[in-house]
Amino acid sequence: MDRLIIRGGRRLEGTVQVRGAKNAALPQIAASLLGAAPITLNNLPDVADVGTMLTLIGQYGVQVDRSGPSSVTLNAANASNAEAAYDVVRRMRATLLVLGPLVARFGAARVSMPGGCAIGARPVDLHLKALTALGATVDLEAGYITAKASQGLRGGRILFPSPSVGATETAMMAAVLARGESEIVNAAREPEVRDLAQCLIALGARIEGAGTHQIRIQGVSQLQGGRQDILPDRVEAGTYAVAAAITGGQLELTGTRLEHLAAVGEALERAGVRLWPTDRGLMVSRPGPLRSIDIVTEPYPGFSTDLQAQFMALMTIAPDESTIRETVFENRFMHVPELARLGANISLQGTSALVRGVSALKGAPVMATDLRASVSLVLAGLVAEGETVVNRVYHLDRGYEALDRKLIRCGADIRRAAG
Ligand code: EPU
Repeated sequence: MDRLIIRGGRRLEGTVQVRGAKNAALPQIAASLLGAAPITLNNLPDVADVGTMLTLIGQYGVQVDRSGPSSVTLNAANASNAEAAYDVVRRMRATLLVLGPLVARFGAARVSMPGGCAIGARPVDLHLKALTALGATVDLEAGYITAKASQGLRGGRILFPSPSVGATETAMMAAVLARGESEIVNAAREPEVRDLAQCLIALGARIEGAGTHQIRIQGVSQLQGGRQDILPDRVEAGTYAVAAAITGGQLELTGTRLEHLAAVGEALERAGVRLWPTDRGLMVSRPGPLRSIDIVTEPYPGFSTDLQAQFMALMTIAPDESTIRETVFENRFMHVPELARLGANISLQGTSALVRGVSALKGAPVMATDLRASVSLVLAGLVAEGETVVNRVYHLDRGYEALDRKLIRCGADIRRAAG
């Protein structure tokens, strides 16, 4: 497995092109299973998770035509609900997103329990609740989820006790082909949910309210073909914003907008970082000293859990104390012991981390087992004295397109080595 060798201490300056959002692309690829007419997705990020999802839907008989690294046409005319190989499903949790479309179109599906980043228990109960509310019979046994609706799904009211991005997407994809009207209450409001709704609407679905707590869907008998541009990746943008901040540099992030960052933009400003819109996107600069601030992760528009690890890396070199509380996933702190290897002073108490800033980090070999934890180590490596080796780069490649090349172009000293 590749590793990244980083020599810290370079101030980053330049331009980074922000690509389409992985977490918007994955459900939209799954949505191709809903209809028999081709759909084209543009601004697709070239990352391993997207490759996994394309392989998965290929196993269901979807024809996948890539007309370039960032564009794909998916034709599910000859698709079926035959079971997919466990070897593909185990690679990431988002493979679960095929469940809703398969039951909606074929009346039955059997999907093995998904794998994914080890960031908490990550149950599937809310996905199953959504399908049950739409009339499916759902069973969980021997590592498989089976869902059946032999007469087709029917509209229903789906009330989530807490918002879930994936379960809202499952509910929405299933309800677009259900007979009658459905309502999703306490829906996730993430921009990726809204982007999926826009994609489905382009295919003929009737959806109102996506992006709010309450989504209403009028079922249609079938979807047509269409095209969609995937929205820019707010987590990729936020990660490069932290790269500018941690190195005291200045980066222009093209293809994104300040409002995409929501609470993360405000937190960066409070921490001494300056952000402003440009014609092509967003400028991020850290002109003076950092300030330690407290953050709490929350569903959108709150501070994104997907940027918590990166922000913690930034706070390790801020002057005072910072409390970082994680409320979305109970166990998303795998980066803490690894940041400590670089000299960070962090103590964990339940779902909170207390970060006491240190004057400098020191390079060391590190490794992380999830995507955002891994990237936080790269960010820390950019300022650590000497050499940091980030092992198992595989995790980074799951969700960041050409991370090392993009950073190198802005002045970072990074080398990728095999094995
Ligand atoms: N949850 C349940 N039951 C369920 C589903 C979720 O209890 O059936 C819980 C989870 O355990 C978690 C909370 O609900 O505590 C929120 O999870 P959510 O379902 O919203 O997360 P997800 O859909 O599995 C997506 C992103 C994650 C991102 C979260 C939160 C995709 C493919 N993944 O996951 O992205 O952290 O929403 O915003 O969209 C990443 O990109 O690194 C990543 C992990």
